[in-house]
Amino acid sequence: MSELIQLGSPKERPTAPSADELNLRFSEQAISELEALKTHYPTLKACILPALWIAQREYGGFLDGDAIAEVAHRLKRSYAEVQGVATFYTMYNTQHKPGRHKIEVCTCLSCHFNSAYRMRDYITKKLGIKHGETTPDGEFMLEEVECLNACDRAPVIQVGDQYHGPVDEAYIDKLLENLRSSSENTVVRMADQIVQVQLLDKERTGKIL
Ligand code: FES
Repeated sequence: MSELIQLGSPKERPTAPSADELNLRFSEQAISELEALKTHYPTLKACILPALWIAQREYGGFLDGDAIAEVAHRLKRSYAEVQGVATFYTMYNTQHKPGRHKIEVCTCLSCHFNSAYRMRDYITKKLGIKHGETTPDGEFMLEEVECLNACDRAPVIQVGDQYHGPVDEAYIDKLLENLRSSSENTVVRMADQIVQVQLLDKERTGKIL
């Protein structure tokens, strides 16, 4: 006979971190964007995903424990609940700092048949990093990802909000050179763009990156 698992009453469940435990870092712009986004959803829980995008931008592209705690505090959710959401989705960077540019190499079927692994190996050799690693200078992170839904351009690489494909070694050389010489942080910019696209025109308060 199976045993019933006793769940605690709502009063016993973990509560949201309080402000005095935290080093809150959301800017005025971020706070106002979050307040606007809260009105788009029926519950604060439903606002966790957009709030995490704001946090990913505000914390420089990386959701560390402080970032998770701040989102939990601002949405009145428990730390565990927000962490569970953030770590479920690969688009949130929760394991370690991603670097200024996250290079996502699709290794799914169409890309696989069109030399995706050769491209991945080329980047690995050129940058000295493997899947999930960041270069010591903090410039690049490499990740293998599933289908990017641009199979007609295989093999495809995503950097920030840009798709590149079909790529070859010469294209990758040029791409890395351009990224290195730009002043942009494509990880932060992508987070900002995802925040902005969810806001109405009248709710956008800051400079779009
Ligand atoms: S298999 Fe690479 S984009 Fe679809």
